Amino acid sequence: MGGWNEGYTTELQYTPYFYSELAPAHLSFAARSTGWRPPSLGDGFTFCELGCGQGVSVNVLAAANPGASFWGIDFNPAQIANARELAAAAQLDNAHFRDWSFAQALERADELPAFDIIALHGVLTWVSDENFDQVLRFIDRTLKAGGLVYVSYNSLPGWSETLSFRHMAHQLFTRVGDADGVPTRVLDLAQRLTDAGAVYFAKQSGLGGKLAHLRTQSSAYFAHEYLNSHWRPFHFTEVAGRMAEARLDYMTSATLMDSMTEAATTTAAAAIIAEEAGNDRIWAEQLRDLANNKTFRRDIYGRGLNRLNPVDQFLSLREQQFALAVPRADAKIAFVGPMGEMAGEAAVHHPILDRLAAGPASFGELQGLIPASNPAVALQALALLVHAKQILPVQEVVDPGPAQRLNQVLLSAYRVGRSYNVLVAPAARTGVVVGSADLLTACAVADGRGDDLADAAAYGYAILSTSGRLLHHEGRQLVDDEARAYLAEQMAPAFNGRIDVWRNLGVL
Ligand SMILES: C[S@@+](CC[C@H](N)C(=O)[O-])C[C@H]1O[C@@H](n2cnc3c(N)ncnc32)[C@H](O)[C@@H]1O
Repeated sequence: MGGWNEGYTTELQYTPYFYSELAPAHLSFAARSTGWRPPSLGDGFTFCELGCGQGVSVNVLAAANPGASFWGIDFNPAQIANARELAAAAQLDNAHFRDWSFAQALERADELPAFDIIALHGVLTWVSDENFDQVLRFIDRTLKAGGLVYVSYNSLPGWSETLSFRHMAHQLFTRVGDADGVPTRVLDLAQRLTDAGAVYFAKQSGLGGKLAHLRTQSSAYFAHEYLNSHWRPFHFTEVAGRMAEARLDYMTSATLMDSMTEAATTTAAAAIIAEEAGNDRIWAEQLRDLANNKTFRRDIYGRGLNRLNPVDQFLSLREQQFALAVPRADAKIAFVGPMGEMAGEAAVHHPILDRLAAGPASFGELQGLIPASNPAVALQALALLVHAKQILPVQEVVDPGPAQRLNQVLLSAYRVGRSYNVLVAPAARTGVVVGSADLLTACAVADGRGDDLADAAAYGYAILSTSGRLLHHEGRQLVDDEARAYLAEQMAPAFNGRIDVWRNLGVL
């Protein structure tokens, strides 16, 4: 391993994954729905992801927003090579990648445009204080006035009970090396110590469940989460304080339910926080994290915050169109938020979902369908549905070419066993996260085998068999008719509903 990695795990590459919270369309909706003015996202806006990993998010967003320019920066050259290969295969001329460290990005900032949005997902917790400084200086230098920064990180108090397990995993790694073998070894060691009555493990009520879940995760995930030299969960106030150094103010959360008081705390805690914090938004946010034991934050900061007054807010939302992102039959009006599940209101949510089942509709129209046409109630209902990824804000697709090309590349990759978890949805200016059965179904439709479920499943089985992928269910390998019948079952939800949703979103 070379000396360029600054303590960051490079032995196992970061898993390619798409994170929808990074999408400019999502950040813009999060800002507007909480009463803040987002930057204009017309043609020519600029977006940069620092620590872009395999560049999946940058490529998908570039394909979904062909009028804008997207930059991905990451010091891992193998990952940047993969990112460039994906961009080249789909001929995305608006996706640019640099295999630079944050220090190099700062030095060479003159070679980059000024940015409307800078995003860092899963970076801050895992880098040194020096890297954090470089990131802040890069933002200070390259973010436009009125621009947004998206930043996610492991937060306290939610991670406090795992701190010593992480220390133990990292210590074992420094002793034995082997990022691939350490996860099982440290989980076994933790289990043995638990069984032997080690008090740390007994005292942390949520840790056992967390470690059991960790056994189901890949070594690559484990390595990137636990084995870096640097690993630091932050309190919200610490990050807000550091961001202020780059002239950034906290705007809102990209996790929409985190911004809804009734979803983020108990009613009694909300009253205490309101009384204690008054207009101090930073203090209120920190107290909310204590109230719901926050483990992960996805924050939006602005360089200069401008409030939308309520009239501007509703005027700016009035013409916004929304579309279903799941089949109507799969839409649920129970929403999982920071305090667990919150019930929606049937009289509000059902008319909205029923209308969207017939095709996209504007905020103004949807507002007219709910009791008393109350715009604040309509906005809350739509924000809950966006949070649950059941609906998406949409716009007219001007140039579907880049999205179609990238989707073809993603499906071709799946055919030969390389799975990305995403397809581009150009109408929503973002990607939709998909599973294996979805990808098989999309392959069948794209290849003209989507008229009949049994035929699509037979085609799916042929794809898996040709690329040497075996089908297992309940510990047994399935072949031929049994395999085709099982695949038909797995592909049915996509075949019978999601395909129509994807068509509305421009995916197929
Ligand atoms: C946890 S991964 C997140 C990747 C990507 N943002 C995603 O969400 O899929 C963090 C990334 O930051 C990159 N990174 C860490 N330290 C860096 C540094 N000093 N300069 C540039 N990239 C860095 C790593 O190579 C890695 O790809």
